Amino acid sequence: MKKKLLLAAGVVLVLLLALFGRDLLGLYRLLDYVDTTTQAYEAEGPWPQTADACVGCHGKQGSSLHQRYPSLAGQPAEYLKAQLHSFASGQRLNPNMQPLAMSLTEEQIAKLTDYYARQPALDNHGFQPDPALREQGSKLAVAGACMACHGEKLLGQGPFPRLAGQGADYLLAQLDAFAQGRRIDPTGSMKAITATLSPQDRKALSHYLASLTTNSK
Ligand code: HEC
Ligand code: HEC
Repeated sequence: MKKKLLLAAGVVLVLLLALFGRDLLGLYRLLDYVDTTTQAYEAEGPWPQTADACVGCHGKQGSSLHQRYPSLAGQPAEYLKAQLHSFASGQRLNPNMQPLAMSLTEEQIAKLTDYYARQPALDNHGFQPDPALREQGSKLAVAGACMACHGEKLLGQGPFPRLAGQGADYLLAQLDAFAQGRRIDPTGSMKAITATLSPQDRKALSHYLASLTTNSK
């Protein structure tokens, strides 16, 4: 009787494996994946993390998948902090960011900006630049000495944001906003610079900047 039962159990097991073996392996892999990503996630602090509120628009680890939403990854913490304060005070206007920035504490702002500054800046693979516009933008960047403030490779430093690999539509919107006085930068540098640029120039610069490499994959 016992032998028969054991045999039956064995048959059932073999049948189950044959039927669901691949699914079981898949499940095991999924659990393993969840486990490793959870570990990486928890290393940033306990759940829920403030950065969870940013993922929908600014992408995983601050690398946006949408040309209209800026990437925050690899941006200097000083710059990011200044922008969040600027949204909160109403100096910089945006219907999404303003109420959000107002709800953040100083401690959360410090943690978020430190977190995003440490994330790797990724190349903007989703954007196909127009070759002629890119070429024109490259010349305008040299003529405008963008590197003097934004860094030799336009990767940002201190109060100057990274422009390389940023979303193309976002860059154009910001250049237009500076030119039209809708975005005010404290030193007035960007207002002065964009005052000399035509709409076509601004478009060319955004194609050039969005297609620049960040030197990481
Ligand atoms: C509903 C969408 C949305 C969410 C959620 C969101 N943002 Fe934004 N964020 C935007 C948009 C749109 C802009 C660009 C605003 C503009 O055009 O001036 C922006 C801009 C920014 C900027 C300025 C970037 C730059 O290069 O100047 C910072 C910093 C920022 N967001 C931080 C955050 C943080 C931190 C969170 C989470 C706590 C967050 N955002 C959540 C939509 C969002
Ligand atoms: C004298 C220094 C200086 C020079 C030169 C300069 N910039 Fe800027 N730029 C700034 C500062 C400072 C900011 C941040 C302004 C703020 O805090 O709102 C900025 C912001 C920007 C932004 C917004 C980025 C974002 O993430 O929102 C763009 C786009 C930009 N600059 C493009 C350019 C281009 C293109 C050139 C060259 C043609 C250039 N800049 C030259 C100082 C400079």
